[in-house]
Amino acid sequence: MKALVYHGPGERGWDTVADPTIIDPTDAVVRIDSSTICGTDLHILKGDVPDCKPGTVLGHEAVGTVLEIGASVTTVAVGDRVLLSCVSSCGRCRYCKESRYGQCLGGGGWIFGNLIDGLQAEYARVPFADNSVYKVPDDLSDEQVLFLADILPTAYEVGVLNGVVSPGDVVAIVGAGPIGLAAILTSMLYTPGKIVAIDLDDNRLESALRFGADIAINNGREDATARVMELTDGGADVAFEAVGVQQTFELATELIRPCGRVANIGVHGKPVTLHLETLWTRDVTVTTGLVDTYTIPRLMKLVASGRLDPTIFATHRFPLGDTMGAYDTFADAASTNALKVVLHGSERDPSSNGHIAAALPAGVA
Ligand SMILES: NC(=O)c1ccc[n+]([C@@H]2O[C@H](COP(=O)([O-])OP(=O)(O)OC[C@H]3O[C@@H](n4cnc5c(N)ncnc54)[C@H](O)[C@@H]3O)[C@@H](O)[C@H]2O)c1
Ligand SMILES: [Zn+2]
Ligand SMILES: [Zn+2]
Repeated sequence: MKALVYHGPGERGWDTVADPTIIDPTDAVVRIDSSTICGTDLHILKGDVPDCKPGTVLGHEAVGTVLEIGASVTTVAVGDRVLLSCVSSCGRCRYCKESRYGQCLGGGGWIFGNLIDGLQAEYARVPFADNSVYKVPDDLSDEQVLFLADILPTAYEVGVLNGVVSPGDVVAIVGAGPIGLAAILTSMLYTPGKIVAIDLDDNRLESALRFGADIAINNGREDATARVMELTDGGADVAFEAVGVQQTFELATELIRPCGRVANIGVHGKPVTLHLETLWTRDVTVTTGLVDTYTIPRLMKLVASGRLDPTIFATHRFPLGDTMGAYDTFADAASTNALKVVLHGSERDPSSNGHIAAALPAGVA
């Protein structure tokens, strides 16, 4: 099969690799119908994720069709259309039993496109299929559910739920990339009083307003803390850090009112100072988190009922065979304005649902 292979820092290829097969009885093999690229894939390509070894197929978000199941898989059948989450779950360890799949001790967690071959490929081996895939309702298209594999549950769990967004709250979001924008969408489920988006990039701020933010602040030109203080009674109730650097974490802690909450979502590659010398009297709560994706079923229900529309993230579409070109577009978001690129397998129109274009290869019911 063909797949996007990481060859070490700065190097990737659309290569011919071995077809995946069932290794463990809990595995499934899935044909990838729709996939996408994450900012984390760009981090891997920069060499920021040393656990990911050269030779690994990248990608951790996809919708696919089950082609084969291992002997002990009971809840997933050949022909099922499934969402493949960025986090896998062994279903048996202490953390999986508490729905904290990101911390799985039994071989799950973030493994796709990191520790094992991932989902920017024609086919993929899916470990722990019973616990790790989510059946997609027939009337939902691939594009309606694809971004539930990573960015929406990340923003929702690590941002909105950890930050306890409540009706009437002023929510400040530092960083309006896909994660910050997903935090806008999922904050809106809780009727906040105001959503303030902060970014250095005017295009991203424009997207933030389109996604539902009330106020956009370019912190390259303006003093974001001063603006938020003007707009609020002593600071935001909740701030999300959705970038992953010292400056933005610090800004998130400065923006909030006494007794406010900072939910850190960004991945920090370098040490960051927590200024307890100024924060200790302010009764603030700071949370951290790696996504678990335990909210996928809930988010899927919201999509099905029309309360949440993730399709607005899809700015570019490529055939899976042009994944290399899709990377170029996604990596150059500053000039292409890409938010999420959709990679579609040859047999699938990603904007249609499973009934249309569900042509399975010969031999599959
Ligand atoms: N905690 C988790 O489980 C988890 C999961 C997925 C992604 N993440 C992390 O979330 C973060 C955001 O992801 P993304 O895909 O949206 O990233 P992204 O790089 O696409 O977006 C980041 C945004 O931050 C803006 N920005 C950069 N520096 C800034 C500054 N100094 N002030 C204000 N804005 C600034 C950029 O213009 C951009 O719009 C990343 O660190 C990513 O690794 C965390
Ligand atoms: Zn990701
Ligand atoms: Zn586990």
